[in-house]
Amino acid sequence: MTSSATRTVVVTGGSRGIGRAICTSLAEPGTTLFFNYFSPNDPEGEKAAAQETEKQVTDKGAEVQGVWADVASSDDLQAFFDRVLDATGRIDVLVNNAGITRDSLLVRMKDADWDLVMDINLKAAFRTMRIAARTMMKQRSGRIVNIASIVGVIGNAGQANYVASKAGLIGLTKTVAREVAPKGVLVNAVAPGFIETDMTAVLSEKARNTMLSQVPLGRPGQPQDVAAAVKFLCSEESSYLTGQVLHVSGGMFM
Ligand SMILES: NC(=O)c1ccc[n+]([C@@H]2O[C@H](COP(=O)([O-])OP(=O)(O)OC[C@H]3O[C@@H](n4cnc5c(N)ncnc54)[C@H](O)[C@@H]3O)[C@@H](O)[C@H]2O)c1
Repeated sequence: MTSSATRTVVVTGGSRGIGRAICTSLAEPGTTLFFNYFSPNDPEGEKAAAQETEKQVTDKGAEVQGVWADVASSDDLQAFFDRVLDATGRIDVLVNNAGITRDSLLVRMKDADWDLVMDINLKAAFRTMRIAARTMMKQRSGRIVNIASIVGVIGNAGQANYVASKAGLIGLTKTVAREVAPKGVLVNAVAPGFIETDMTAVLSEKARNTMLSQVPLGRPGQPQDVAAAVKFLCSEESSYLTGQVLHVSGGMFM
């Protein structure tokens, strides 16, 4: 199934960063890849980024559709998956990658920032898995990979909402893995450490150096480092692996 000639791959948040690297690494001839993306603050920039992802995926010989859809909206998500299922009738791989931060210390954190981060980073994954699992269980095959974070395991001051969402995603991963394993569906998480993307580009020099000082390999990770782990978890080589959290952090977490 996972390495066969034709497969349908769905990636959330595929326009930039880690999501784009995941899309390109999973792209091969015979793959039909759907990704979504969303940015209320910079729709034009996000659309241009999505076009670049589409180009990179097409260059690798796969079919691709980038779709503007907000993972926090159940209507958008349902329409996105309807499109996938109308087109191919199956889902072989689902990667829940879309994620945001809205950082502040606990005592200053607003309810709206808590809710938004939870909706995008955690509730959306619950909803996408609920849709995809139905199809995958009928197929008796499928791979789901959730992009968590090292901080979901070790915590991080100033990120109560984000950390709670990622810790929740890890618990959700393990629970869904247990539920769907009898039907041949494997569910795992990848927990990146400090990866160079737009999300981390906003960090101050001081914050960046503090992070780097905690990385035994002494350098930040690249989106491709995370994508390689996702590719492995979607391959035949990982067919006895489920409910796991694979840390891609340069040794930051051991
Ligand atoms: N960069 C890091 O160091 C790092 C570390 C640990 C975990 N992660 C996780 O990896 C994932 C990708 O992070 P990144 O650094 O590539 O981020 P990024 O900000 O570069 O890209 C985010 C992607 O998510 C999409 N997105 C955001 N909100 C969305 C929404 N409401 N609906 C649909 N799509 C939406 C954007 O369109 C974009 O494609 C996230 O889940 C993040 O939490 C990143």
